[in-house]
Amino acid sequence: MKRRTVLLGGAGALAAGALILRPSDQGVSHNQYFSDLNDLLKRSGPGRPVMLIDLNRMNHNIDALVDSVGPDKTYRIVVKSLPSVELVEHVMNRASTNALMLFHQPFINIVAEMIPQADVLIGKPMPVAAAATFYRKYQESSNHAFDPSKQLQWLIDAPERLAQYQQLARQLGIQIRVNLEIDVGLHRGGLPDISALPPILEVIQNDPKHLVLGGFMGYEPHLTGMEATLEHEEVKSVLSIYRGFVENARNAGVDVNQLTLNGAGSHTLRIYERDNTMNDLSAGSGVVKPLDFDTFHLTDNKPALFIGTPILKRYDSLQVPVMPLAGKLLSTWDPNRERLYYVYGGFWKAHIVSPSGVPDALFHSTNQEPVSTSHSVDLKVDDYMFLRPTQSEFVMLQFGDLLIVKDSDIVDRWPVFQETG
Ligand SMILES: Cc1ncc(COP(=O)(O)O)c(C=O)c1O
Repeated sequence: MKRRTVLLGGAGALAAGALILRPSDQGVSHNQYFSDLNDLLKRSGPGRPVMLIDLNRMNHNIDALVDSVGPDKTYRIVVKSLPSVELVEHVMNRASTNALMLFHQPFINIVAEMIPQADVLIGKPMPVAAAATFYRKYQESSNHAFDPSKQLQWLIDAPERLAQYQQLARQLGIQIRVNLEIDVGLHRGGLPDISALPPILEVIQNDPKHLVLGGFMGYEPHLTGMEATLEHEEVKSVLSIYRGFVENARNAGVDVNQLTLNGAGSHTLRIYERDNTMNDLSAGSGVVKPLDFDTFHLTDNKPALFIGTPILKRYDSLQVPVMPLAGKLLSTWDPNRERLYYVYGGFWKAHIVSPSGVPDALFHSTNQEPVSTSHSVDLKVDDYMFLRPTQSEFVMLQFGDLLIVKDSDIVDRWPVFQETG
């Protein structure tokens, strides 16, 4: 074969391959749901990025979680995933529960002050200095309706930490309720196996003036993604380790019926509908269902949390500084990069959901993020784009008050937690 023929053949194959690989137009403008939200924010929004909660969807999610927990167990709200007093109170009322799980020292004082009926379990072991700070601020506060000796359980993961908390209790002349973190397979700390329990129980039982056992906490998010049921080997293993700790405590004379036997999270809570090993199941994120929670056991829950951000600028062709030809080539190759918008803010832990079919940004900006779309997306300056946060806990704190939306109206504004001191 002649060299020219080979070259031509090669070029032809490349061109055909390129045509096959060329992205198709994926762009879709707002559907009715997002179009209504867009109208709402243009009418009543503050003209900056906002965090929205769809109240109807959230209520649906709360009901689904409560259904899974069932009447015989306690539903415990994971507050770090829903960081607003009003939001937590809404979930408490709707779910008829006072049980909260907290993860951040300042929020423990806020809850003690503002939600004094709460029953609080701390979700991670904290330096004893955090506990000391809590008791100091609690003493300084004017509202003592919250009784820490009955309503607060500190999480203890090791004998050394127990000794520190015992020392603090002695110093302050108080009784501290401790909940023991147990490793049910996650290997993120806690008592590694039941042989670690007796010496810890002994310390607690020998000092009832200062220490009382509140229960166990065995978190198992490693079950996520296994589509696990009670028959799954990993679930069986989690539950058998858990039962081992409970039996051991019972044999040591502990009244286990009084204990908080906590476990689960949004991803896994549903697994235990027909199991009674744990009597206290936690979930937070599933209430608003950020993107990372599109998982097997949450298929009945609906996305209820969105960032809405205004479009500041629009170009009808892709503009690339210094290299105009690169912009031309890129948008010719990928029709989803034909149009370029700039939105207010950006680079959050979130992905654009409406318009849909938006390719990855060419660069990120927390000030004005570029968003390229195809010509099928025909939004104007001052229209809004919508993103779904990948998680709720940190992202929800970045937008000021949460806008609570119901049937195309903003029905409430709920402040998020603010740290003080
Ligand atoms: C101890 C513990 N329990 C439960 C959860 C579940 O929280 P969520 O339902 O928001 O995933 C977490 C999340 O980090 C956790 O650390």
